[in-house]
Amino acid sequence: MIAKTMEAALNRQVNRELYSAYLYLAMSAYFETTNMKGFAKWMRLQAKEEQSHAMKIYDYVLARGGTVSLEAIEAPRAKWASAGKVFEEVYAHEQKVTGMIHTLVDLSVKEKDHATFEMLQWFVKEQVEEEEHASEILSQIKTLGDVVGHLFWLDHQLGKRE
Ligand SMILES: [Fe+2]
Ligand SMILES: [Fe+2]
Repeated sequence: MIAKTMEAALNRQVNRELYSAYLYLAMSAYFETTNMKGFAKWMRLQAKEEQSHAMKIYDYVLARGGTVSLEAIEAPRAKWASAGKVFEEVYAHEQKVTGMIHTLVDLSVKEKDHATFEMLQWFVKEQVEEEEHASEILSQIKTLGDVVGHLFWLDHQLGKRE
């Protein structure tokens, strides 16, 4: 059985992962309107991945005999000024998520909840990857100058994501 404080914190993280999915879906829709099909595809897959993060924690709470409680998901914005602005936000957002995961790890240590600690290690590693991808794409956009015409190569590259 999982402690109530840990359960509440994990439920909150389910909500934050679903918000991430929502945010990336909004970014995907934005890229569709700017005809950046590769960026749009990348973001759509990223949204799906965030949904799977939420479900990992959701399933874990249930496996530990806890209660899943779903709350309202905050609405993301719908427009950005440029692809560069989108990826600045992605990078900042992922750094924020990393902080949330680390706070959860700290709580699991405080609660002496070894099972939750172990489950969260997957997320610790995943966040290293997420930050790396976001900062890599951001720096590529900066190199290309954030001019739509110059971004087609990157759009093509991102469109290869499976
Ligand atoms: Fe995530
Ligand atoms: Fe990932």
